[in-house]
Amino acid sequence: MSINFKLNGVDQSVDATEDTPLLWVIRDHLKLTGTKFGCGMALCGACTVHLDGQAIRSCVTPVAAAKDKTVTTIEGLNSKQGQAVKQAWEDLAVVQCGYCQSGQIMSAAALLSNNASPSDDDINTAMSGNICRCSTYVRIRKAVKQAAESLA
Ligand code: FES
Ligand code: FES
Repeated sequence: MSINFKLNGVDQSVDATEDTPLLWVIRDHLKLTGTKFGCGMALCGACTVHLDGQAIRSCVTPVAAAKDKTVTTIEGLNSKQGQAVKQAWEDLAVVQCGYCQSGQIMSAAALLSNNASPSDDDINTAMSGNICRCSTYVRIRKAVKQAAESLA
């Protein structure tokens, strides 16, 4: 069946079963590969995208949940919070291998949309589901703070 939603500002109509993971639709049907597959079980955060502005794990979200909603991936992250996060990531050279980083950035941007001035605890809580095997956590925390300051 066809499922309609908006992806990065563009209307999409996807022919998929309702329980197809949103991640497969994004990567395989719509060919946007910036969103990564890690665990497939909502444990690593590599697949994080925004659904109506909230960070979700697209590997365990059925595409039906996106019906008539707005999905944003790393390729379309142009909100002021998203731009501030991307700039801070670049300034502080956060990325190591890069595999986890689109998920990290999506979670950080969603955090700043909900909380303009997050404490260390807020950052740790919001980012705790995003695993980085290269252990870039210290730079990630710094970059989230820098992004928040640049938006203040
Ligand atoms: S791939 Fe979705 S949380 Fe790991
Ligand atoms: S930068 Fe390598 S897994 Fe995070």
